[in-house]
Amino acid sequence: MVQNKGKYDERNRLNDLTGKEWLQHTKSFYVSKRSIQDKPAFEHPAPFLVKDIEWLIEMFTKEGMTVLDPFVGSGTTLVAANNLNRRSIGIDINPEYMKLANKRVKIDNKDVCFEVGNSGEKLSDISNIDYIVTSPPYFNILSNKGSGIRKKSEHFRNGSRVSVETYTDEVKDLGNINDYSEFIESLASIMTKCFLVLNNKKYITLILSDFTINKEEHNVQGDIVKMMEDIGFKFAGTVILLQNSKPLYPFGYPYAYKINHHHQNVMHFRKEE
Ligand SMILES: C[S@@+](CC[C@H](N)C(=O)[O-])C[C@H]1O[C@@H](n2cnc3c(N)ncnc32)[C@H](O)[C@@H]1O
Repeated sequence: MVQNKGKYDERNRLNDLTGKEWLQHTKSFYVSKRSIQDKPAFEHPAPFLVKDIEWLIEMFTKEGMTVLDPFVGSGTTLVAANNLNRRSIGIDINPEYMKLANKRVKIDNKDVCFEVGNSGEKLSDISNIDYIVTSPPYFNILSNKGSGIRKKSEHFRNGSRVSVETYTDEVKDLGNINDYSEFIESLASIMTKCFLVLNNKKYITLILSDFTINKEEHNVQGDIVKMMEDIGFKFAGTVILLQNSKPLYPFGYPYAYKINHHHQNVMHFRKEE
């Protein structure tokens, strides 16, 4: 049976969705979905899933628009944008990730572009962006918690982590900053440049989970929202990306409650000048 997709409103300048489809995208949670295109990405320690990013790109762009990811890693944003006929630009400090991304989607520097380097510098050469979606390093947690590499026998990303890894040895790699305030300041400096390259009335989405700092639970989401508001972005809400198949760890058992983070905070902001 063909389902009624609903009607497209000609006044819609944001995306190509019908009213019915738009409404589905406004739910405050989304259940993470895997696809066959995710498999090659697991050579990277913290990739997005393609379908999760497609869901966002569908909401915040029309066909032919340009999507930017300043921490593009294995190139998932480029894959998702290409699947939906959007142009894309990714930046990552690790040159190996460009090779990995190129195995997933053909980088041609016109419709699919990958710049190797520090986003703090590379963003100065970019303009006219319609949507930014990205996930920065989660402070220093890859190296700090010995949580880098996943078990080889488990091919999807819910495999348990078995050893330490960092993205690079570069000082400009945000994952190598060991002071949390300094991490937020460095991220803020890159987000300020993102503000400049993003077209007015367009959106930026930051994806991060909360995490512990010195073994204490921390409200990272609160700090990120404040940081983005201080730059001038308008907060548009947080969607919870549910990751219901990760392993559970008995961190505090049987003495104290310790949370297992099985979701990401998908934080939306709009540039309104
Ligand atoms: C959480 S990962 C992003 C993963 C990506 N979403 C994916 O699907 O593969 C963060 C990335 O930021 C990169 N990175 C860290 N500091 C950077 C900087 N200053 N400029 C550009 N990339 C940086 C790391 O190399 C890493 O690949």
